[in-house]
Amino acid sequence: MQVRAEARSVSLHWEDGQRNRFHYVWLRDNCRCDQCRHWQVGDRLLDSTQVPLDIRPQRVELKAPSLLEIAWPPDGHVSQFDVGWLLAHRPGQAVTVGQGLRRTTWDGAFADRIPELTHERVTSNDSELLGWLRVLHEYGVSLIRHVPCRLGEVGRVAETIGCIRSSHYGTIFDVESKPKPNALAYTAHGLLPHTDLPYRELQPRLQLLHCLLFEAQGGDSQLVDGFHAAERLREAHSASFDLLASTAVTFRQLEEGADLSIEAPMIGLDDDGRVDEIRFSNAKLQPFDVPEDQVISLYQAYFQFAELLRDPAHIIRLRLEPGDLLVFDNSRVLHGRTAYDPQSGARHLQGCYVDSDDLLSRIRVLERAAPPLSPDSSKLSTL
Ligand code: OGA
Ligand code: ZN
Ligand code: ZN
Repeated sequence: MQVRAEARSVSLHWEDGQRNRFHYVWLRDNCRCDQCRHWQVGDRLLDSTQVPLDIRPQRVELKAPSLLEIAWPPDGHVSQFDVGWLLAHRPGQAVTVGQGLRRTTWDGAFADRIPELTHERVTSNDSELLGWLRVLHEYGVSLIRHVPCRLGEVGRVAETIGCIRSSHYGTIFDVESKPKPNALAYTAHGLLPHTDLPYRELQPRLQLLHCLLFEAQGGDSQLVDGFHAAERLREAHSASFDLLASTAVTFRQLEEGADLSIEAPMIGLDDDGRVDEIRFSNAKLQPFDVPEDQVISLYQAYFQFAELLRDPAHIIRLRLEPGDLLVFDNSRVLHGRTAYDPQSGARHLQGCYVDSDDLLSRIRVLERAAPPLSPDSSKLSTL
């Protein structure tokens, strides 16, 4: 590796032929020493804004093959940079989000490959937990079997991932037919595939649903990968896709103690145009408020997307059994159920939510102790 001190930056020429420039203001600001960062907390102590934009070093030196040392004015403050750290922070390097995490979309044929594992396995050790969470991140769905049918158990499973995200339905909510329901889910009606809490600014990402008791007739579950359906929409009706990705619609929850409302598109895209979030709820959608010449095209786009989401070729159907715990990415995988007959027997699920930053945090923390990833370690066969 070659180091060259230039007018405004240090230029590093790596072994692979690449060259990167690290500006002096950037280097001074990112000094790793104990004066500039708290040695325990890791937070920056240095007030970045006090670094002169045109700062120039007094000395730049490659100390050991992998240690760059820089002395700064006015007092000769010394910064030492591990070359590996600089390599990892080259321009364009995103913060590592977990080793090689990816997303794989699926359709109805996925029904017999849905990642399934036992409660005992998930809770047995950290490497099983990591394997599960990686698969959950990749496919956005998994089914845990033999979870003890105890009230609150769903919360204990959630806490193996992170903090439970509570809502106006409580920390853990009970899904059963109630005399005074404040959600359609708390009746015996069927529920078309939907995302939960689409009317919240931050729609919960992970949803857990634990079946405690199921004697009723009906009430079968449906799951559909909204990212897959959105991509089919983009292929088949690109104008409709663009409309749903660019038109904010209103979702609202109005009840005795709450009036939650948000305007957001049904299809959310990230900066690179990839589908990143689905908000979809026939029940919670408010009257479209668009110029009258756009009403028909918006309905048409909505219906086309709904048709893909309800296409039997895209849907997984299953009947939960007591002890089953479904975990899915609520902003990606829509869930629904058929109507059931409460006279024919009881049906009781408990659910809760966990945010996605907790999931990614847990994955990163578990990876610290994990051996490096082999190319196929997130394949289902490892479960
Ligand atoms: C819910 C829900 C599904 C079910 O509680 O949000 O969609 O199977 N429940 O009862
Ligand atoms: Zn320092
Ligand atoms: Zn729901």
